[in-house]
Amino acid sequence: MDPVRNPYAPGAGQRPPELAGRDRELEMFEVVLERIARGRPERSLVLTGLRGVGKTVLLNTLRSQAIGRLWGTGKIEARPDQSLRRPVTAALHMAIRELAPRHRAPDRIDEFLGVLRAFGARSVPDNAKLRDRWNPGIDVPAARGRADSGDIEIDLVELLTDAAGIATDVGTGIALFIDEMQDVPAGDVSALCAACHELSQTGAPLVVVGAGLPHLPAVLSASKSYSERLFRYQRIDRLDRLAADRALSAPAAREGVEYEPKALDALYETSGGYPYFVQAYGKATWDHAPRNPITPGDVRVAAPDAEAELAVGFFGSRYERATPAEREYMRTMAALAEADDMDTAVATAEIAKALGRKPASLSPARDALIKKGLIYSGERGAVAFTVPHFGRYLRSQPAVDA
Ligand SMILES: Nc1ncnc2c1ncn2[C@@H]1O[C@H](COP(=O)(O)OP(=O)(O)OP(=O)(O)O)[C@@H](O)[C@H]1O
Ligand SMILES: [Mg+2]
Repeated sequence: MDPVRNPYAPGAGQRPPELAGRDRELEMFEVVLERIARGRPERSLVLTGLRGVGKTVLLNTLRSQAIGRLWGTGKIEARPDQSLRRPVTAALHMAIRELAPRHRAPDRIDEFLGVLRAFGARSVPDNAKLRDRWNPGIDVPAARGRADSGDIEIDLVELLTDAAGIATDVGTGIALFIDEMQDVPAGDVSALCAACHELSQTGAPLVVVGAGLPHLPAVLSASKSYSERLFRYQRIDRLDRLAADRALSAPAAREGVEYEPKALDALYETSGGYPYFVQAYGKATWDHAPRNPITPGDVRVAAPDAEAELAVGFFGSRYERATPAEREYMRTMAALAEADDMDTAVATAEIAKALGRKPASLSPARDALIKKGLIYSGERGAVAFTVPHFGRYLRSQPAVDA
């Protein structure tokens, strides 16, 4: 089939040609927005799931939903060891700029921007000159005495309260989206929970929507015990058979192309319904298929190409981030998970036993892999891969590092 018209989109955060199987989440968020706009108590939404299941894409879609309702929005991609101050400043700046033209009192906006600037300036080392020179693109001088105490918890509560006040003035809300939320440093996560808690009590129209790896709920509840009541966790998983078929068929149909039912069987078997794989195998199959309709034979011929592409772009790029010791750790995990070929969680004690090491001596490798987002610990004493089919990939690789 003509590669120029290939509709599929494998890639991080790439908008899929058809957002399949996420109707429930979209409807749920519609209700959240409506309730918050009416000042009803509502929990923030947190999406969790493995790598490549479509968290970023869904987060972006929820953002569009909020923009469609004329909310102010901003988005952050958290990074390990990076404080929330700067990204939150930029994201709220963006949100307020969306609302400003509809606000009747420009000085209220300037007042807020002064507070925002002061909040952000606290990210600069304690040096008045450096702080004055810090330029976040806000052309209002920093205010004093609000959101600038240096205690992130106090400052976030004040900042978000003021931001919500602006949204109230214009009769809408503000939605702050945080991707890779498991990477927010512990102190900041705790402050964020406290701020959400405070805001939800006053019915302020501001919602934080997060997305992250499966252990994100554990990260949040470790920081504040009440986080379970604060957030509504929504597990984003692989697509069921119907949704996966729709993800493939609907974009093809728009190009006048069809799949034989057996071709869809074959694609579901190889992709396991994981959205990234659905796009990758769909794309390769399209390019290999000589004619309409697409057959199971086309899927078979194309599979090695898709796998080669995944080995580099999806698996390889992640594997490269690990040190030799960390790779050995993951290979052992993969070997131990082989029994059922399911990449289920593996007991850390088993890994230590297989490597003939003391469990404590492996903690640095384990912790580094968690920090790099390659594995996670959903339950105490066990670890699992964050990347679907990662164990299978490692087992297919030659034993020695090239
Ligand atoms: N509902 C869906 N239907 C079809 N394809 C989808 C869907 N959601 C995501 N995809 C596709 O899956 C791929 C991965 O999406 P995305 O980058 O959002 O995943 P992610 O969960 O954020 O991954 P990571 O944890 O690596 O950041 C993209 O190519 C995207 O087009
Ligand atoms: Mg993502």
